[in-house]
Parts: sequence; C-alpha cells; structure tokens
Amino acid sequence: MNVVKVGLLGLGTVGGGTVNVLAKNSEDISRRTGYQVVVSKASARDLTRSRICDTDGIQLTTNPQEIVNDPEIQIVVELMGGEEPAKSLILEALKQGKHVITANKALIANHGNELFAEAAKNNVVLAYEAAIAGGIPIVKAMREGLTANGIEWLAGIINGTGNFILTEMRDKGSAFADVLQEAQDLGYAEADPEYDVEGIDAAHKLCILASLAFGMPLNFKKVYTEGISRITPLDVTYAEELGYRIKHLGVARKSEAGVEMRVHPTLISEKQLIANVDGVMNAVVVKGNAVGPTLYYGPGAGAEATASAVIADIVDICRQLDGANAVPALGFMDEQLQDIPLLPIEDITTAFYLRISVEDKPGVMAAITSVLAANGISIEAVLQKEAVPQGASTDVILLTDSVIEKSMIQAIKDIEALDSTNGSVIRIRVESLQ
Ligand code: NDP
Ligand code: HSE
Repeated sequence: MNVVKVGLLGLGTVGGGTVNVLAKNSEDISRRTGYQVVVSKASARDLTRSRICDTDGIQLTTNPQEIVNDPEIQIVVELMGGEEPAKSLILEALKQGKHVITANKALIANHGNELFAEAAKNNVVLAYEAAIAGGIPIVKAMREGLTANGIEWLAGIINGTGNFILTEMRDKGSAFADVLQEAQDLGYAEADPEYDVEGIDAAHKLCILASLAFGMPLNFKKVYTEGISRITPLDVTYAEELGYRIKHLGVARKSEAGVEMRVHPTLISEKQLIANVDGVMNAVVVKGNAVGPTLYYGPGAGAEATASAVIADIVDICRQLDGANAVPALGFMDEQLQDIPLLPIEDITTAFYLRISVEDKPGVMAAITSVLAANGISIEAVLQKEAVPQGASTDVILLTDSVIEKSMIQAIKDIEALDSTNGSVIRIRVESLQ
C-alpha cells in the first residue's frame, strides 16, 4: 500500500489526539483512503514535555520549518495555534505545493482570504474542518451536504469551553473561575482563555460559518461579539425559573438588507433542542431554503474529538492525491468493502417501554413482574394508572433495563397469555444513545 507522509506542526492536545486516533484507527483509515497515513515528523517547543501520545517512530523537532521543507511530507497539519509563526509556515508549505490542514480558526478568520488564495494559486488544499465546532463535520455538511440550498440563517453553540462553564454553573452552582480552570485542564480552552470567555473564539468560528453559508469573503471585524464573563449563577437560576436556559450563541442571518453576524449570551426556551446542548458539546442549526432547519451536534473541543475532524481532512486529501476527486460511493475504497455479519433484530439488545392493559384485581402486577423475572428482564420504572371506575381495566407502564430482543418477545407472549391482561402489549424500544 502507498504511504502518505504527514508532518504535524504542534503536538499538544489536538496534535497528540491526532497521533492517537491515527494509530487507533489506522486500518479503517487505510481502507477508506487506499493509503497508509504515517506521521513522520512533528514539532513542539519543548521536547522534554510529556505527551499524550506515543511518539515512537515520529521524528521530533523544535524547528517546524524542518517539516515544511521536508520533500517527503505531502500533508502539513498546523496545530500550534496563534498567528505567527503559524501563518508564515502555512504560506510556505502551500508555496511548496503541500496540502495543509489547520484547526486554527483565529488564523482562518483573520487571514483565510489570503491563505485560500495562496492554496488555489498552488493547486493544493487548505482544509480546516477542525477549526469550527470541534468534532462536528459542519464544514463538510455546509460545503457538500447542503449545497442545494440557499442558506437563510444559522445559529450555534460553537465554543465548548463557554458552554461547559455555563452548564457547570447551572448544574453545580460552580464559580466561573473554577470551571474555567477545569476546562483548561481538560484541554478545551484556547491558549489565551479570554478568547473563549469573551466570545472571540466563537466569533472566529461564526465568521467562517457565515462565509460558508452565504458565499462571501471572511470578515471577522464585522462580527458583533459579547462573551459570558458577566453571566452570574443568579442569572442562570432566574432564567431557569422562567423556563429558559442561557446559552452563548453565534447567529448569522441573511436578509435583503445584508448579513448579520453576532455572538452573545442568549436566553433560549428550555423546550428548544439547542437549549439542551450541555457541557463541552456544540450544536449548529442551519436553515436551508429547501431542506428547512437541520441540526448538527457533537463535542466542540477535546483531543480525540478534534482529531476526528483533522483526520477527516487528511482522508479527503488522500482521496485527491491520485488526481481524482473521488469520495467512494460507500465511503470505503470499492475493493475494501467487507461482508460483515448483520444482526437479526432478535439478537439486538435495547431497553423497552411496555404498555399493558390489565384487569384491576389483586396480583396482576406480581404476575407481570414474575414473567419478566423468569425471562431475565429487570424493571427500571413502573407507572400504574388508577382504574376509573374502580374495577375497570387500566394500564400498567413499565420501563425495562436493556434486554436481548428474543427474551422480550417471549416475555410479551407470556404476559399476553395471563388471565389478568387484555389484548396486545404495546412495546417501544428505548435508546439512551450513549
Ligand atoms: P496546545 O497548546 O495543546 O498545543 C500546541 C502545540 O504547538 C504544542 O505542542 C506546542 O509545543 C506547539 N507550539 C505552540 N506554539 C508554538 C510556537 N510558537 N512554535 C513552535 N511550536 C509551538 O494547543 P491545542 O492542541 O489545544 O490547539 C492547537 C490548535 O487547535 C489551536 O489553533 C486551537 O485553537 C485549535 N483547536 C483546539 C481544540 C481543542 O479542543 N484544544 C479544538 C479545536 C481547535 P509544546 O507542546 O512544546 O508547548
Ligand atoms: N477553545 C475552543 C472551544 C476549542 O472551547 O470551543 C475548540 O475550538
């Protein structure tokens, strides 16, 4: 199999995560690209620091220029952050005909117009999926999946650190500074955490999203930006009492008058899906004029979540290396499709909701629970509705623990055969999506 050599500029949270995920999923990544992806060199400032990844086989250097100049490296991945030397290194790599991937939203928002022009001039790719909303493939969705649509507006929780802080303040009443420190320890925060709490990072991302949505040059300076640093636990509590959550939202909307771009704390009804996006999770709602509103949700920061986006860009570039802009029809190289056993529904394990119509007489519940126990099924919750009038039939509602479907099929047959139950048992599978 052909090898493609990758050089990493930066081996911190995201760089280390990228090495780890490439190692963990190397077989699938090769099957998806037709290449063995090898990180041959990586740079960092301090080579004595401990790393979150295994660096065996990777040549480490404190001189990132060495990576840019290495003729064997075809893809340079910039994961250092900051403006300089990142910008000069990227420009140099592009000029040398290398494809570049970056997670650096500050750089794209402020200098993307110049950097994209340089990439186009050299007929190479400058990819940046990881720059927005961490692991969520939102750039892919907007550039490819939604391409039929005119985008009317988008709104998103696009800073993981900020959302983590607001959630912890609400759920645990934690102090702002403590939660920020925790976010830093978890590797979510920017090198300068003011970028997170003052909304600058979200504004960088919103600026890029707005350009993707409306097809316009990047214009970071035009984003209205307010952070979360003045939100107190009291505001969070009052908002809750009114049925709202406070979320730090980025909104971009196009009207006849023009495009608005704004980032600020926002009260959102707790009934809205996006109000329930908590912790480090991000979500972006994009309203297309054909598809309507669509929602993208996932982790907004963190080592492996962000690496997932970085590596998606590596895969995209590998697929273009032989000249074809080929996304294989099923996402894997055609000759790599495998016959994997497919499970029948009887062998699948889920939890269940059961609604059982029963006679209002003593011993009914005991009979049902003994059938479930005999089939190895535990009960998670029970709700018994009062019989009106007394003696009429009524409903028993059960939530079960996870159980293999064939046991549930047998249990339902046994319950339906009881003298004290009526008709068919209604069963709905329950998913926790964890
Ligand atoms: P880290 O601080 O963890 O890692 C940065 C790496 O770059 C380190 O290896 C550091 O060396 C090296 N580095 C930093 N500055 C220089 C410099 N001037 N010269 C040479 N090397 C340098 O950052 P992250 O991994 O968290 O972030 C990297 C990029 O990814 C940033 O642009 C960030 O905004 C973006 N991003 C981060 C996410 C996250 O969850 N953390 C999510 C999405 C994007 P050393 O290790 O020796 O200090
Ligand atoms: N500091 C950023 C955040 C990293 O918390 O969202 C991901 O872009």
